[in-house]
Amino acid sequence: MTPGVRPFVAGNWKMNGVFASLGEIEAMRRAADAGEAGEAELAVCPPATLLAQAAWKIRGGKLSLGAQDCHPEPSGAFTGDISAPMLKDAGATYVIVGHSERRTLHYETDALVRAKAEAALKAGLTAIVCVGETKEERQAGDAIAVVTRQLKGSLPPGGGPDSVVVSYEPVWAIGTGLTPTPKDVTEMHGAIRTLLGEIYGPGGSKLRILYGGSVKPGNCRDLLTLDNVDGALIGGASLKAAEFLAIAAAYR
Ligand code: 13P
Repeated sequence: MTPGVRPFVAGNWKMNGVFASLGEIEAMRRAADAGEAGEAELAVCPPATLLAQAAWKIRGGKLSLGAQDCHPEPSGAFTGDISAPMLKDAGATYVIVGHSERRTLHYETDALVRAKAEAALKAGLTAIVCVGETKEERQAGDAIAVVTRQLKGSLPPGGGPDSVVVSYEPVWAIGTGLTPTPKDVTEMHGAIRTLLGEIYGPGGSKLRILYGGSVKPGNCRDLLTLDNVDGALIGGASLKAAEFLAIAAAYR
């Protein structure tokens, strides 16, 4: 946790969720409205097909809504893509960019991730910029160097605590049940905090730095209370409201 920074717990549904899943979002909204996550802000990032309907379900409440990706251009001949202004129009306030699944499976570079983050800011969205090393990179002792390089290449110029969130997600921890040690997380988040100060100046000390990768109700307290860990980006455990809220309850 960082003094003076409001924690943030977000669910990344990835390519999961259909109309029937909106009930989970309604349950999350009820919990957010009831303050079940204490001071923490809660958000859910369903697939784009559910955004508009989810926005309708959460209107007037305290649950925030995010998307999982955006195109760098605001409109045009890009079949199948979705722009940041479209996401904003559908009711999102956040958009994840640079998730490792997109960096790996869609060959997204730091430059493209930065262009997407810039498009997000231009549209009035807050960009959740994801970074993280592979198992080989960690074993080679390069984890901090890799994440530093990704952040320098991916963060949008002119960002600040209200427009950018960083999510550190070691690739080898995503969906595996494995997590880094508290010492490794503290070391990485400390390095990210220092870098954010260099890039954004004083605002960098207030940016939220999330941890992502196999966060579960059983390990969330150990991870979320570490220095410079300002919340979590949760995959599998965010699909069911009960599990997601059990994690968010770490902030109660
Ligand atoms: P899991 O929580 O399923 O490991 O996924 C983490 C993630 O990729 C969040 O963006």
